Amino acid sequence: MERPQMKAAFVAQPSTEDPAGAVGVGELPVPEAPDGWVEAEVRAGALNMHDVFTLRGIAKPAGAGPHVIGSDAAVVHNGQPFVVYPVLPADTAGRTVAHATLLPDAGHGMLAERVVVPEAHLVPKPEALSWEEAACLPTAWLTAWRMLFTKAQAGPGKLVLVQGAGGGVATAATALAVAAGATVVVTSRSAGKRERSLALGAAAALESGARLPQLADIVVETVGPATFEHSMLSTRAGGTIVVCGGSTGFTAPLHLARLFAREVTVCGSTMGTLEEFRDLVAFVDAHGIRPTVDSTADLADAGKQVGRMLAGDAFGKLCVRVA
Ligand SMILES: NC(=O)c1ccc[n+]([C@@H]2O[C@H](COP(=O)([O-])OP(=O)(O)OC[C@H]3O[C@@H](n4cnc5c(N)ncnc54)[C@H](OP(=O)(O)O)[C@@H]3O)[C@@H](O)[C@H]2O)c1
Repeated sequence: MERPQMKAAFVAQPSTEDPAGAVGVGELPVPEAPDGWVEAEVRAGALNMHDVFTLRGIAKPAGAGPHVIGSDAAVVHNGQPFVVYPVLPADTAGRTVAHATLLPDAGHGMLAERVVVPEAHLVPKPEALSWEEAACLPTAWLTAWRMLFTKAQAGPGKLVLVQGAGGGVATAATALAVAAGATVVVTSRSAGKRERSLALGAAAALESGARLPQLADIVVETVGPATFEHSMLSTRAGGTIVVCGGSTGFTAPLHLARLFAREVTVCGSTMGTLEEFRDLVAFVDAHGIRPTVDSTADLADAGKQVGRMLAGDAFGKLCVRVA
């Protein structure tokens, strides 16, 4: 039987040079839900660098169908609002998600009017959040959560340095660490973003590369080569640098003497477990945190929103309104 149609944003033609231009928006068949999965209506999604990798043809979907983009969604299922945990499988035993897959890479991208997701991945949406704010949680906010609280012990008495303050992960890390009682210092290339970070609760906002008045216990490192040396210089002896990505590349210099003589820990972090996602959503709700949304575009303009992300002047998440 013919499947009903839905509007979706997908990879029209992968392009290394022009990933924003690689976004197609059009009608696709509504996917069928495998056993244990349910269909949901998407209200809003959020973009991530992973979508750019997909549009460049680096991340490839399992299966031959059109590659719908998007890892993040706030949805309605059976009349109830949810946010979707985006990592497969959900039952990642223990605390590692290193070998997991994102929903879009399994052929289930979220930037579509309808999605199918494992029922266990539906986590009730905090009532206070808009659809766009809720859609920020699955990737960037979950990543920041694990970096701060699983890989490091952010909390009262800890000084947390957040590099590249305007980023999706960075704005999440600032808000979460402040809410957890840590003192947060951020760096940014942009005076406007530094100003906005202070409004998020950062105690100080410095130019990228500036000397910290006091060395940090924890560094949230998402920028890569442009800031990594500064991260090493800014970490106290025995402190921890948590790395989840590299907006400026993936190869950074490591001063080995500083690493061993000062017993600094450098550790990687990726996404988070379903249990961590539930903890994050509960924490955001309990603390009245509102994720920072830079801007929201209609689904038809998903490509323009990818372009805005690539321009690097956003503060917070780039969202897409689906319904
Ligand atoms: N491992 C995971 O699970 C995971 C999850 C999410 C993201 N990531 C990765 O983490 C990284 C950040 O993701 P995101 O979504 O937060 O990215 P984003 O929203 O695009 O933010 C990147 C930030 O990096 C800073 N930056 C860019 N170029 C810079 C430069 N030349 N010098 C100093 N700072 C610079 C900018 O901060 P300022 O403009 O404020 O300086 C920018 O706001 C990406 O590599 C992404 O792929 C990994």
